[in-house]
Amino acid sequence: MKKHIYLIGFMGTGKSTVSRNLAEITGYLEWDTDYEISEKENLSIPKIFEKYGESGFRQLETQTLREILLREPSIISCGGGMVLAEENIELMKKSGIVILLLATPETILSRVKNGKERPVLNGHMNVEYIEELMKRREAYYEAAQDQKVVTDGKQPQEIAVEIKRILDTEKICFDFLEKV
Ligand code: S3P
Repeated sequence: MKKHIYLIGFMGTGKSTVSRNLAEITGYLEWDTDYEISEKENLSIPKIFEKYGESGFRQLETQTLREILLREPSIISCGGGMVLAEENIELMKKSGIVILLLATPETILSRVKNGKERPVLNGHMNVEYIEELMKRREAYYEAAQDQKVVTDGKQPQEIAVEIKRILDTEKICFDFLEKV
């Protein structure tokens, strides 16, 4: 069975880097929803938030998901808030397997603290806020996921291998694309 592989999870759980590593070991194409939105609008994510607000960004996110899922089975790295719309969860579950990357608030802070490209965390770069936002989103991530992978203390390549193993047991087929 061939399906999309969705990587979801809170900001800083490593979706984009893991996605690149997973693409290397599977030969699958990979897409990044934030990157596509940014390219389409010709604006950075913070500028899109400034121009259209968070709700405008969320609309672009759903629209972009709808476009990407029509492509051949690929790895799709999702923005951290993709799960906030029930419609998005439905679209992902219908068209693929959804892998939730997990990390502790401390790990997340260490990975995101120097970045300026996440408007949702602007002025809130601390463990308490990250923990609170994670709690608020927990039910959405839970509802969306088919499998969970803990990322703390692991290298992206290691995580990619772990995901590949899950895909093998779930019989997500790579045979015709697999690199030698
Ligand atoms: C967001 C996560 C970001 C990006 C936007 C909003 C969120 O993606 O989509 O800044 O609400 O969690 P990453 O998870 O790739 O940082």
